[in-house]
Amino acid sequence: MRWLTKAYNLGFGKRYLESNYCLNHPSLERTLFGLHFKNPVGLAAGFDKDAMFIDELACLGFGFIEIGTLTPKAQDGNEKPRLFRFPDDAAIINRMGFNNLGVDAAVIRLKNRKTNIIIGGNIGKNKITPNEEAIKDYEYCFNKLFDVVDYFVVNVSSPNTPNLRELQEKKPLSDLLIRLQNLNLSHPKPKPLLLKIAPDLSNSQLDDVIEIAIKTKLSGIVATNTTIDRDGLTADKEVVDNTGAGGVSGKPLKQRSTEIIRYIAKKTKGTLPIIAVGGIFTGDDAIEKLQAGASLVQVYTGFIYEGPAIAKKICKSLIK
Ligand SMILES: Cc1cc2nc3c(=O)[nH]c(=O)nc-3n(C[C@H](O)[C@H](O)[C@H](O)COP(=O)(O)O)c2cc1C
Repeated sequence: MRWLTKAYNLGFGKRYLESNYCLNHPSLERTLFGLHFKNPVGLAAGFDKDAMFIDELACLGFGFIEIGTLTPKAQDGNEKPRLFRFPDDAAIINRMGFNNLGVDAAVIRLKNRKTNIIIGGNIGKNKITPNEEAIKDYEYCFNKLFDVVDYFVVNVSSPNTPNLRELQEKKPLSDLLIRLQNLNLSHPKPKPLLLKIAPDLSNSQLDDVIEIAIKTKLSGIVATNTTIDRDGLTADKEVVDNTGAGGVSGKPLKQRSTEIIRYIAKKTKGTLPIIAVGGIFTGDDAIEKLQAGASLVQVYTGFIYEGPAIAKKICKSLIK
């Protein structure tokens, strides 16, 4: 990112980056929940948590960038080391724990951004906030970000904030989404509100999520976050065990994530838009997700291993 920022700030840097990494083509354009995406390949949440690099990342050809997860107060996240690469498995295990500088700081940066790339605001709660008071944290972030993001993602699926995923249960999830949607609808122009889910949900939990999503008129689902399942890793069991807690992303997540997308698309007969994320490295991976029923895709681990040209490469395949 240091290199990218330097390149961006050189005289012709921005134009050089754009000409190397951006691909524009009418067949890539998508309109979804009232937003116009120049292409369907986004950068997933957790990479630019604090909206530090929006202008630079926009030069790498992404169709949209999801910032966050942001919380009301700044917090350090978990102790380091907290991110582990498993290159032979094309995977990462992370337990970052929502390290971020707080939503207020991000708002200032978003106000000052130069590019008009579509921004998703992924929101969560502080570690010290008990689940019973979680709604307040989500509300705070929602209100602060309302004027500076294009869509919202409610993150209740990170495995790295203690008990967060309990908010995916029927009653707390329903309460949270009703409250946020009411807030949203009090604006003359409400923003698309999406929910990001874990890949570890059972079918009956997925049924509950779908029911709530429809009841609260969500704009869509982001599927999926990282998994707590270690089965997809071929790395030595002892090495994996020694890594400790955290979520697995990348290739081992791909299949489960696609299954979830297919399940939701089938159950809702394609009426609930899905942003696919989990193990996308290539154009074929992205096509698999789109064919399973997703409308847009996002990458994180693929970006780490494939490098800055990933969006362009996927877009190239999609054009073909
Ligand atoms: C280091 C790291 C940090 C992440 N932080 C967040 C986060 O703050 N919020 C979130 O919703 N997802 C976060 N994610 C999950 C990704 O957005 C994505 O859902 C997941 O990694 C699966 O996609 P992938 O296989 O392309 O990496 C993070 C992932 C990684 C690897």
